[in-house]
Amino acid sequence: MSKDVENLRKHERVLNHIDIIKNKLSSITNNKIKVGLLEFHPYDCCPLSCLYCTYHRDKSAVYPFDKMEKLKVFDPRAIVISGGGEPVYYNDGKYKFKDVIHKLREMFPNAKIGVTSNGQYMPEGDWQKEIEWIRVSLDTNNEATFKKIKDGSLKKSMETLEQLIQGPIKYVGAGFVYSRFNIDEVYDFLKTIYKDIYLKYKGKGSEKLNIQFRPTCMVSSCNCPSESYLSTGQLMVPDNKDWWKESVEKERKLIFEDKDLEFRKFVLNHANIDEKELFVVNNKEPKFEKCWLSLIRALVRANGDIFPCVMRACNNSKTIENILTCNNLENIYLGQMLYHNLKDDYCKGCEACCRIDGQKNVILDSNYNKTEEIVNDLSSIDYFF
Ligand SMILES: C[S@@+](CC[C@H](N)C(=O)[O-])C[C@H]1O[C@@H](n2cnc3c(N)ncnc32)[C@H](O)[C@@H]1O
Repeated sequence: MSKDVENLRKHERVLNHIDIIKNKLSSITNNKIKVGLLEFHPYDCCPLSCLYCTYHRDKSAVYPFDKMEKLKVFDPRAIVISGGGEPVYYNDGKYKFKDVIHKLREMFPNAKIGVTSNGQYMPEGDWQKEIEWIRVSLDTNNEATFKKIKDGSLKKSMETLEQLIQGPIKYVGAGFVYSRFNIDEVYDFLKTIYKDIYLKYKGKGSEKLNIQFRPTCMVSSCNCPSESYLSTGQLMVPDNKDWWKESVEKERKLIFEDKDLEFRKFVLNHANIDEKELFVVNNKEPKFEKCWLSLIRALVRANGDIFPCVMRACNNSKTIENILTCNNLENIYLGQMLYHNLKDDYCKGCEACCRIDGQKNVILDSNYNKTEEIVNDLSSIDYFF
């Protein structure tokens, strides 16, 4: 697997931010609110209706452009612009998506900025020069499935991917969240990306392509504690079932027994899948004493609510604060600490944590008190998920 693809899901990258945690817990720091990663949802509207989307309930909020400066307190090293809805449609009067990007760059000259988009539309402008990585959520290689699970046009998203490959952004991703609806399309998806993007743009941008597979929540083996996922009644990844295991194995064989050696090499270098098992996911119930992620990450929703993670943002949990209404910044720090210390009405810790994302807390829990220096790789500073 190439280094870029590996880094997309390397949980260890949270160790890059131990210094922020240490500063925050000491009494001599001048910015107690600073985070490693700011996940910003500027716009909650979206033209698609993905079956599995976590954010179906509140679909109208727009983060006010004239309040962007309030985000300065987070002083993040990396920013992911996502949703909520679809960020590229951002619309606050005369201010559009490109203005959001330019404003973020003005406020945070050194932060690495990433974007996730459904690719149905890509605004023009020089905003792309400010972006380190972008990922288009495709989830299939055919129009019928795209209509069924997302209700939009795959052709448009593929055209966007093609444009991005030819543009200035350093890393361009194709996202595939796998589920019962598309598990038998993994091989076909890889073949399509290989032929229509990789080979077509070989020497002209293909090298920056990465393909990211992730499970769609809910996953059977996770025993997910999320009430909002449970209430959908949909088990997206029934990975305990024999039919699922057989489907995965069938796709694995199709990919790695393909006669085209160049295709196999492409898969190994550009996609985060494993030759022996296809998808390797550590989703044991995470065991940790404190939530460290709440000190190094902030998710700011379009209505200004701040959460430490997607799990809490989607389960009617208490906010850390609201960045738009908060008039005492110390309260943001207090909210982060209440989550960090797993105060009862904030988070129940291990039992309530995402089985996959929570592994980062396990890593931080076991490394935080180590005396030897942890060797970090700040070049892979922070990617989404
Ligand atoms: C909620 S979307 C918002 C940004 C943008 N509209 C997009 O499509 O990328 C962000 C990412 O979450 C993923 N996603 C949505 N529902 C999910 C679920 N139930 N499990 C895992 N990922 C999910 C989407 O596929 C997408 O990659």
